[in-house]
Parts: sequence; C-alpha cells; structure tokens
Amino acid sequence: MSPRGRFITLEGGEGAGKSTQIGLLQAFLRGQGREVVTSREPGGSPGAEMIRKLLVEGPADAWDGPTEALLMFAARRDHLVRTVWPAIERGAWVISDRFADSTRAYQGHGHGLPLDRIELLYTVAVGNFAPDLTLILDLPVDIGLARAAARRGAETRFEGLGPGFHERVRSGFRAIAAAEPKRCALIDASGDVDTVHRAIVRVARERLELA
Ligand SMILES: Nc1ncnc2c1ncn2[C@@H]1O[C@H](COP(=O)(O)OP(=O)(O)OP(=O)(O)O)[C@@H](O)[C@H]1O
Ligand SMILES: [Mg+2]
Repeated sequence: MSPRGRFITLEGGEGAGKSTQIGLLQAFLRGQGREVVTSREPGGSPGAEMIRKLLVEGPADAWDGPTEALLMFAARRDHLVRTVWPAIERGAWVISDRFADSTRAYQGHGHGLPLDRIELLYTVAVGNFAPDLTLILDLPVDIGLARAAARRGAETRFEGLGPGFHERVRSGFRAIAAAEPKRCALIDASGDVDTVHRAIVRVARERLELA
C-alpha cells in the first residue's frame, strides 16, 4: 500500500497570490516525484462546483450568514469525500486553494457568524480531519485588492464588501495562524512571486519531511 498523501491548504485574502503560489508549489512537489492534485474551494468536485455557482454568482446579500456557511460546508464535504480523501488514500498530495479557514475568516471574522457555530458545522461536515499544513498568505488589504483588480475574470462576491470587511478578514486569518501554529504558517505575501515561493518551500521542507 502506498503511504498516505498530504493535504495542504492555501489561505488568504483576495489577490494574496494563492493561485500563483499553488502553481509553483505544485511544480516543486512534482519535481520531487510526487503525484500532486490541485483543487479549490468552494468547489473541487462536480457536486461542490454546482454549489459554488450558488455561492459566487448573484448579489452579495443572496444568502444570510448561516445559510452561506451551510452551503460552504456542504460543498466542502463533497470536495473531501469525492476528491481529497480518495487522493490522499492513494498517496497523492492535494493542494487546495482555500479551505475551512476561509469560512472562519470570511463568514466568522468578516461577517460576524459566531466562531463556535462554525466549529459545530466543521465537526458535522469534516470530523477529525484537518490539513497537514495551512499556508496563510498575508499582505495589506489595499495591495491585495489592487492585485485582484488587476487580474481580470474575478468572479467573487466578496471584493465589493469594503475595506473594513477585508481588514477583519485579514486579522481573522492572522488570529487563526496564531491560535494553531502547528498546522498553520503565516507567509509574508508582500514580496515578489519568487520570494514568496521560496518562503513557502522553506516551510514545506521544515514541516512535511521533504527532501
Ligand atoms: N508576489 C506578487 N507580487 C506581485 N503580484 C503578484 C504576486 N503574486 C501574484 N501576483 C499577481 O496578483 C494577481 C493576483 O494573484 P493570484 O490570482 O495568484 O491571487 P489569489 O490569492 O489567487 O487571488 P483570488 O483570491 O482573487 O483568487 C495576479 O495578477 C498575479 O499575477
Ligand atoms: Mg485565486
């Protein structure tokens, strides 16, 4: 039987560089001869992509907070059941663009949904499972929004929510990193693409038994 794979999640605000860094991390891990699967939330499986449409299309107030969180966790469970767990089981390394910390940061810290209720949903949908490593890309909100605006084709309802919201999301992510230092690493994402990539590789080497 092949050894169990790993589950790595990338988190951070809009335009922090998650998609860019996932591409580079994937290439690095493949260079080490590993099977790498990349994925994203909400989405990452056919059912979860259908739920994603409900979440990202439409007006910012399409759902109230608890409903939005339930949809997120419904999509998350399907992503785990159909994509992540089978891949890890066969020894693949899965990198997900966002996971549960985005629900904590956006619906919890950003929108004020009580964090203990989010943890209840996590227990129901995910159980004891957690990422092996969570890389939280941190940078000032204005820089992130400028990067996201420069990149066309963004399909997020969250970009129009104002600077106060995005500041709460950023400090929420930083609080998560501080509260769970074994699982999470806070990465300074304000440097150039290569500098951030090197910081990520350094952390991955330290934490994941890499060559
Ligand atoms: N370190 C960097 N310095 C400058 N620009 C960057 C850096 N990393 C990414 N970018 C650029 O910023 C934009 C956003 O990057 P990217 O799409 O990787 O971020 P993201 O976190 O995935 O954003 P979103 O949450 O909107 O999906 C892209 O145009 C990308 O080329
Ligand atoms: Mg992205």
